[in-house]
Amino acid sequence: MSAEPAEIPRHEEEETRSKYAGVLRFYNLAKHQEWIVSDVPWGEIPYIPEGKGSLQRQARRRDVWRSVVMQQLQADVLACEMAAQLLNAAPDPEAKLYYSTMVQDESRHTEAWLKLIGEIGGGGERDPQVDRLGHMFLEADTLEEKVFVMQVFFERLIIPRFRLIARSSRGTILEDLCNRLAVDDGIHHGAGMAYERVLLENASKKVEADLVDAANRMLPEFAAHALWRPKAREMIGHLMEARDRERLKTELNHGVRLARSLGLDVSEVELPF
Ligand SMILES: [Fe+2]
Ligand SMILES: [Fe+2]
Repeated sequence: MSAEPAEIPRHEEEETRSKYAGVLRFYNLAKHQEWIVSDVPWGEIPYIPEGKGSLQRQARRRDVWRSVVMQQLQADVLACEMAAQLLNAAPDPEAKLYYSTMVQDESRHTEAWLKLIGEIGGGGERDPQVDRLGHMFLEADTLEEKVFVMQVFFERLIIPRFRLIARSSRGTILEDLCNRLAVDDGIHHGAGMAYERVLLENASKKVEADLVDAANRMLPEFAAHALWRPKAREMIGHLMEARDRERLKTELNHGVRLARSLGLDVSEVELPF
C-alpha cells in the first residue's frame, strides 16, 4: 500500500481551480494598478480646496475638509483590520493571494490619509456609523458574510462618495487620493463579487438567510453614515440633505441589485427610505 495521500485526478483538480479564475484575475489587476504614496504630488498642489473670504470663513471651510478626511482615515484604519481578517479566514490559495494585495492597499490608503491629515491640522470628530459598520463586519460569523458586508456592499457604495468628494476638490491632493481610492475600491469590490459567487455555490440556506439579514442591518447604517454630519459640517449639511437623500436612494437600490445578482432572494430587504 502506498503511503502517498490519495491523489485528486488532475482534470478534477483543474476544474475546481478554474472556479477561482475570476479571483485570480483581480489579483493580477491589483498588482497592475498598485501605486505608492510618493506617487501623489505632495507639496506641488494644495492639499484641500483653499477657502476665500474672511479668516474665520476660511477656518470654517478647513474644518469641513478636515472632517471629510477624518471620516476616510477612520474607514481605512478599520479596512486594514478587515482585509487582514479576510486574508486569515479565506481558505483558498487564490483568494489568499488576492487578499494579500488588499491588505497592502488598505494600509497604503491609511498612510496617505495620515499624511494628508497631518498637513491640514490633525484629526477631528469620529463618525460613529463607521465604527458601527466596522463592528458589523468584525463580528460577522462567516466568511460569506464578511465578504458581503465589506466588498459587495461597503466598497461599492463608497465609490460614488469618492467621486463626489473629488468633484468638489478639483486640483488638490484630496482629489488625487479620492480618484486613486475609487479605482482601488472598484477592484476590491470586483474581487469580492467574484469570490462571493464561488463561496455561495455551496452555501446553505441558513448562510443565505444570514446575508439577507446582514443587508438589512448594513443598509440603514450605511445610509446614516452617508448622511452623517460632524459639527463642522452641520451648516452645509442642511443645504445638501435633499439631494444627498436622492443620490443615496439610487446607491442603496444598486446594492440590492448586486445582492440579487449573487442569486440571493432580496425580497425581504427593506430600504431605509
Ligand atoms: Fe481603502
Ligand atoms: Fe477597500
